[in-house]
Amino acid sequence: MTTLDKATITDETRAAIRSLIARRQPGYSLDAPFYTNPEIFAADMELIFGRHWIYVAIEPELPEAGDYVTVTLGKNSIVILRDDDMGLRAYHNVCRHRGAKLVHEEAGAVGNLVCRYHQWTYNLEGKLIYAEHMGQDFDTSCFGLKSVHVRSIAGLIFICLAAEPPADIDAMEAAMTPYLLPHDLKNCKIAASNDLIERGNWKLTMENNRECYHCSGNHPELTIPLFAYGFGFAPGQMDETELAQAARYETLVETSAARWESCGIPSAEVDHLDDCITGFRTQRLPIDQLGESQTLDTRVASRKLLGNLTDTALGGLSFWTQPNSWHHFMSDHIVTFTALPIDAEHTLVRTKWLVHKDAREGIDYDVENLTSVWNATNSQDAGLVEIAQAGARTPAYEPGPYSPYTEMLVEKFCKWYLGRLSDGLA
Ligand code: FES
Ligand SMILES: [Fe+2]
Repeated sequence: MTTLDKATITDETRAAIRSLIARRQPGYSLDAPFYTNPEIFAADMELIFGRHWIYVAIEPELPEAGDYVTVTLGKNSIVILRDDDMGLRAYHNVCRHRGAKLVHEEAGAVGNLVCRYHQWTYNLEGKLIYAEHMGQDFDTSCFGLKSVHVRSIAGLIFICLAAEPPADIDAMEAAMTPYLLPHDLKNCKIAASNDLIERGNWKLTMENNRECYHCSGNHPELTIPLFAYGFGFAPGQMDETELAQAARYETLVETSAARWESCGIPSAEVDHLDDCITGFRTQRLPIDQLGESQTLDTRVASRKLLGNLTDTALGGLSFWTQPNSWHHFMSDHIVTFTALPIDAEHTLVRTKWLVHKDAREGIDYDVENLTSVWNATNSQDAGLVEIAQAGARTPAYEPGPYSPYTEMLVEKFCKWYLGRLSDGLA
């Protein structure tokens, strides 16, 4: 990184952020500037989104050589594509001639990447293969596209803008692959997708995602398949009936996990949300009612199960990654989410519903039935993030305490974020 690049965060801003980090009380929400201040937002984009592995797409979006998707990460536009050897590549979406944006669609297919301005042409390996009128001594090998690190974990595509990306993605891949492979994401298709702009800072989107304290009061659809006790509770405040229900739930978690594990379906909790640079967590939990899927009737939404699965009742395998993604894997479908910051007070939440590539719409699945729980939940969550942002903007806001029983993962998110920000500022 050059001196000029480093100067994007001024010494004054660095000192101000360091002092906010130093005065933060563990177990409490963050100071208001973390949610509202444009300079902290710029630091987030550089030090968090610019230096960590960011989930952006899935392999089924790129089935053939030349297929591409583009993604915007702060000021960066990235094109991710399938090369001629069927490998994944990612490039900065910027022409090496005079810097024009190269690809303008969100997704498509190309033979080569041709700049509209003066037709400089790059092959799928990023090499400049055509540049007219540049003279015989012009060395095209010096003007290939700038590459971006890209990795697929069982079909989930992550990119990293850093020159040296965090190496511990290897550990996440090793831990997660056995959990994800039975769901065979690579042989899925996108049945539906949704882009929703939340009126809130990306950290409020993530904090909201990392707890279900708000679920019973706000998510009538999601709480049909989700057990109320699955996301923590304070035993001292519960009556005997509630305690008995919670105990039954704990027993169900244990017996379900034992059954799934005995069939070769990994289910045990793995939590590295705040002790790894590439923070993540996973756990497979039972689904309530009829026990099959995250749908309004808790039955599978697609009759064609994923991969070679035959058991409809595999619960919901959740996979959370820092800083910005979460995913739910069931026997019949997968829902993936990525939160992409737009500015200090707006965040794009991109949701994709995946089913087996051979599942037939209208026969094996119905899109409305597939998407109803999470479409409703996303919209309710957007409303919650908006009121949290509105409160953080007022002078009366001060950090408030997280529940030690239901908001532990919110605290882990904040701890990870502040730790990574501190490291970046050092
Ligand atoms: S800016 Fe791309 S060819 Fe000139
Ligand atoms: Fe929610």
